[in-house]
Amino acid sequence: MMDKKTFAVHSNAAITAIGTYVPERILTNAEMEKLVDTSDEWIVQRTGIKERHIAADNQFTSDLCFGAIDNMIDRYGVHITDVDYIIVATSSPDAVFPSVASQVQAHYGIVNAGAADIQAACAGFAAAIQLANGLLLSGAHRKILVLGAETLSKITDYSDRTTCILFGDGAGAFLMEASYNGQGDVAAVYTKTDGERGHLLYRSSLASAIGEHAIQTNGYIVQNGREVYRWAISHVAEGIQQLLERSGYTTNDIDWFIPHSANMRIIESLCEKTGFTPQQTLSSITQYGNTSAASIPLAIDEGLKSGIVKPGQLMLLYGFGGGLTQAGVVLRWSL
Ligand code: ACO
Repeated sequence: MMDKKTFAVHSNAAITAIGTYVPERILTNAEMEKLVDTSDEWIVQRTGIKERHIAADNQFTSDLCFGAIDNMIDRYGVHITDVDYIIVATSSPDAVFPSVASQVQAHYGIVNAGAADIQAACAGFAAAIQLANGLLLSGAHRKILVLGAETLSKITDYSDRTTCILFGDGAGAFLMEASYNGQGDVAAVYTKTDGERGHLLYRSSLASAIGEHAIQTNGYIVQNGREVYRWAISHVAEGIQQLLERSGYTTNDIDWFIPHSANMRIIESLCEKTGFTPQQTLSSITQYGNTSAASIPLAIDEGLKSGIVKPGQLMLLYGFGGGLTQAGVVLRWSL
């Protein structure tokens, strides 16, 4: 039998800065009550969400990325003109192309960088960290901007009460650099996709692409909430256990469990199934709703701002959602 530590990842990637941004406009549950037949009580009880931030009509995912990067520069004084790769995880890009990452490159005049968006839905930010870690470790790149950013409000049907109460907009950025001492922050990674369940959560304007499963084809997010919920609390819980095993750590060793903020009930079930306590769990669901690829950096930043996240702590980040895809990272926080 293989030693479980065999899978632990070698890493030279240091996270050297974080920044976040949410649009100003807040959409409360009380306002939701005016849009669809729902109630604050129902939304809070079923999802834990109290409000979400919504982009202005002329504000797109690239604009939210600029907000997060500006915030990072203000706080950490980092220089980004020498960044050599930009990855933006998003399911709600301004356009299919040019990528949001290309717009970040242009906006900051980062002249010697490649840029690409990745689309792994709510698993996107953790998947982007995994990619950045690999690129730094291979020596192909030295300094990478990693973003998770969404304007889900632009692809949400505000007449569908089963989805519109869930989603919000936001962005988070990490700066990841090759460390000079060869000591990296990433301890383990895990990812898995159940593509045969893809039709349970999709956005499509092509009925033929979704085939017999298509129930709506107007470019909005469509989901079978119950089935996604079931998948999350069984398959995602298993994935988290796999990641822990790979890392060689137990739930007691991990200071912060940061699952994707899909829904408070899913988070509570994942805690029960995996053995993490609510006290060691960070989420961004209450104030921001489900912000897909942005939810994990927003949760970390809430923890930093309240002073509970500290250098040297171990974190397990775990994204899951459309695909259906899951991706997780165990890392040591050094900021
Ligand atoms: N307000 C009031 N009533 C509602 C609302 C609403 N906003 N939405 C649905 N209902 C009603 C339904 O019509 C249904 O009524 P009925 O019994 O008369 O038919 C009843 O509430 C129960 O509906 P369900 O869909 O079974 O509600 P459920 O308890 O499953 O909660 C929810 C719905 C919150 C979407 C849940 O299924 C869920 O959290 N699913 C996970 C999916 C998720 O989080 N997706 C986000 C994207 S994917 C991701 O990030 C993992």
